[in-house]
Amino acid sequence: MKKTALVSGANKGIGLEITRQLAQRAYRVFLTARNVQRGEAAAAALRKEGLDVEFIPLDVADSTSIQAARREIGSRCEGLTVLINNAGILIDSNRNILALSEAEIRNTMNINALGPLFLTQAFADLLVDGGRVVNVSSGGGAICGGASTWAPIYCISKTTENAITMQLAHALADRQILVNAVCPGWVQTDMGGSGATRSIPEGADTPLWLATAEGLRETGKFYRDRQIISW
Ligand SMILES: NC(=O)c1ccc[n+]([C@@H]2O[C@H](COP(=O)([O-])OP(=O)(O)OC[C@H]3O[C@@H](n4cnc5c(N)ncnc54)[C@H](OP(=O)(O)O)[C@@H]3O)[C@@H](O)[C@H]2O)c1
Repeated sequence: MKKTALVSGANKGIGLEITRQLAQRAYRVFLTARNVQRGEAAAAALRKEGLDVEFIPLDVADSTSIQAARREIGSRCEGLTVLINNAGILIDSNRNILALSEAEIRNTMNINALGPLFLTQAFADLLVDGGRVVNVSSGGGAICGGASTWAPIYCISKTTENAITMQLAHALADRQILVNAVCPGWVQTDMGGSGATRSIPEGADTPLWLATAEGLRETGKFYRDRQIISW
């Protein structure tokens, strides 16, 4: 069976690059995005490169959309090899947590933290034994040296995503499904800005490695640059 992958938030940025490189490695990739026009355009561009990419609508903050994507992908393939939880938002740079609105807080937690949990729940039965889940997190979520405060709810959402990663790793361990979180570094995307230190392919490197590396056994860990880092 051809290996398959789902990438969330894949119409641009790191998710688009992960999609491209998985397809270049002969995966059949479900490129998902919340915006139909942007998602279809991204998938069509990759197909023009000769890649096996299909667009599926998916808003990770909407349980109806998650269930629809699960049904559609389940009807198109027998098993999912790789799930990349990449979709994310950053809307509170340089803000004070006391001034954030309820909507800003709930949206960020729903997309960045609960999105990966609900998406993994929905696709757990479709994941093949020995498959991979990669949660694209952020060093902003690390609390080992004290919490980062430059974007308070973004950082809290990534701390939560990291905790969810550990729980999912435990829950899927008996099926040898590896679940790891990764910080891509500071990457030149719409989120990271043009002043970021890494190119998009550099940011996609460790997520791709976690998704595909032969012989990887670690699960429930946090990575940057292919090395385990502290939570
Ligand atoms: N760039 C960095 O420096 C950096 C650093 C650390 C971690 N990260 C993480 O890396 C991941 C990818 O970020 P990026 O830099 O590639 O950002 P990006 O270029 O802004 O892309 C984010 C993607 O997530 C999608 N998205 C947002 N909300 C969504 C939702 N509810 N449902 C589905 N898709 C949704 C966006 O879709 P739309 O186009 O529709 O908005 C877009 O496709 C994120 O999880 C981010 O936190 C990035």
